[in-house]
Amino acid sequence: MKNIRNFCIIAHIDHGKSTLADRLLQVTQTISEREMKAQVLDDMDLEKERGITIKSHAIRMDYQYKGEEYILNLIDTPGHVDFSYEVSRSIAACEGALLIVDATQGIQAQTISNLYLAIENDLEIIPVLNKMDLPNAMPEVVEDQIIDLIGCSREDILRASGKTGEGVDFLLETIIHKVPAPVGDPKAPLQCLIFDSVFNPFRGVIAYFKVVNGEMNKGDWVKFMATQGEYKAEEIGFLRLNMDPAKKLSTGDVGYIICSIKTAKEVKVGDTITHKENPCEGLIDGFEEVKPMVFAGVYPIDSEDYEDLRAAMEKLQLNDASLTYEPESSAALGFGFRCGFLGLLHMEIIQERLDREFSINVITTVPNVSYIVHTHKGEEYEVYNPSGLPEVTLVDYIEEPVIQAQIITKSDYIGQVMSLCMEKRGVLSHQNYLTTDRVELTFSMPLGEIVFDFYDKLKSISKGYASFDYHQTGHQRAKLVRLDILLNGEMVDALSALIHFDNAQTFGRRVCEKLKELIPRQQFDIAIQAAVGAKIISRETVKAVRKDVTAKCYGGDISRKRKLLEKQKKGKKRMKQVGNVEVPQKAFLAVLKLD
Ligand code: GTP
Repeated sequence: MKNIRNFCIIAHIDHGKSTLADRLLQVTQTISEREMKAQVLDDMDLEKERGITIKSHAIRMDYQYKGEEYILNLIDTPGHVDFSYEVSRSIAACEGALLIVDATQGIQAQTISNLYLAIENDLEIIPVLNKMDLPNAMPEVVEDQIIDLIGCSREDILRASGKTGEGVDFLLETIIHKVPAPVGDPKAPLQCLIFDSVFNPFRGVIAYFKVVNGEMNKGDWVKFMATQGEYKAEEIGFLRLNMDPAKKLSTGDVGYIICSIKTAKEVKVGDTITHKENPCEGLIDGFEEVKPMVFAGVYPIDSEDYEDLRAAMEKLQLNDASLTYEPESSAALGFGFRCGFLGLLHMEIIQERLDREFSINVITTVPNVSYIVHTHKGEEYEVYNPSGLPEVTLVDYIEEPVIQAQIITKSDYIGQVMSLCMEKRGVLSHQNYLTTDRVELTFSMPLGEIVFDFYDKLKSISKGYASFDYHQTGHQRAKLVRLDILLNGEMVDALSALIHFDNAQTFGRRVCEKLKELIPRQQFDIAIQAAVGAKIISRETVKAVRKDVTAKCYGGDISRKRKLLEKQKKGKKRMKQVGNVEVPQKAFLAVLKLD
């Protein structure tokens, strides 16, 4: 146990975490040159293309230092806000953290929020300036930021380059010296922390965990405490580049367990594994049920794909327990599902996986968060669907989720960032200058305001420089209304949105204007209206046009006439019929991207 070092890497997106991890694997010969591909740890195709780590992984490296064998367990963490709970559990499994900061970029929002997590968990922090090979690296400036932030001395900060390998040997030595060995009682009842899981179509769900106390042997009967599931440990072992089976895992070890678990739901990140007989006293602190934060309707573009979509959803949920779905139907879009996601990125990933892995094209409705509705009768329930909002007269009050948002920006953009946040009903709670030209702003903001287009806007007003992170803090009362869109008096349920009363007018007007651009002229006038309850708050009209596709067919060639009609029918397939109005698919998507 004294020669084990469990550590993770915390970094803002793109600061070079994966590249540096690859370098560590190479230097410790965990991976041979031949096996060395760029970014080994990102093994999903999608991850590679997006260049972001979606699922966290762990890998064991053996390293000889001054005649002693060391076991270095690197626990990789995902870098996006949507997956912050997974990050928190990975951090809880470690004793040390490499804090990687891009020497050309300096500290960003995520560096800070992950760092706070690491400090809360008492991890030894090793600050590393990465990308030192780049000519525009500004090590002194970024060092000052790091010193300010964690109060270390300049000598404590390492300099490295994941690209050239500079500083990597010294980094390994520093890990051995500085990261404490795990503490725990090998004689105590078994207590293991699950920090991640993956789904394998042949072996079921594989849980990754750290043994906090006691030891686990192959064949033991174990119990997952939060889910109460009991299983036989069919295979346990260490995580090298591949799984490496072992007979025993001891206190401080990081490894995996396979026990014929069929669905991802049975393995919860943050859960505790113990023995069925002689269990430990309780769950390891910090367990939380991950709950979806963002909800949207997902519909097949071609209604014939509904059954395929259902099958795909089932499959996706097998390996992604944070995805929830339930059947929903819409007059405009037909049958589909109301899905719950961790955040917007998660939603995009699911959409893309449906397309790539299952070849199903889907339409997603305007996303919203979930609200707590209190009725006059004293009832209380959650609403995560515009159609779930009861009659205004029945509602006493509604509560919405609130987040604490952290934004780091150049001080040049502070004015624009402030007005954006205020427009999104944010309240500034803290302002902190990291250096003379970089400022950290903390806002309390409704989550519902950022699921929309906040992040894109923030990026564009700050020319890509502002970084952003958030966590949920609670609920507050909100004046929430349902905004409906009507086409020739007919409500388009798929375009309804839950929105704050103060924003309804502007939003309604913009949707109407956008729809006017997107709905082609038809053989009659089309009234586009936005309404809150019975009150129309905006209106546009698409003027009629007469279009007869067969007009070109003078003469009586019936086969040619039929061909043209067929062609028109095909075009119609990409349209949805709402009452007597045809609406192109892209209109549904366009409301998401109002500018
Ligand atoms: P996420 O997984 O999205 O959090 O990103 P990451 O932190 O793992 O970053 P990644 O390793 O994917 O690197 C981001 C980009 O920076 C890639 O284009 C790398 O090639 C580049 N990069 C990483 N390290 C270095 C470095 O030391 N020097 C230079 N010049 N480029 C680097």
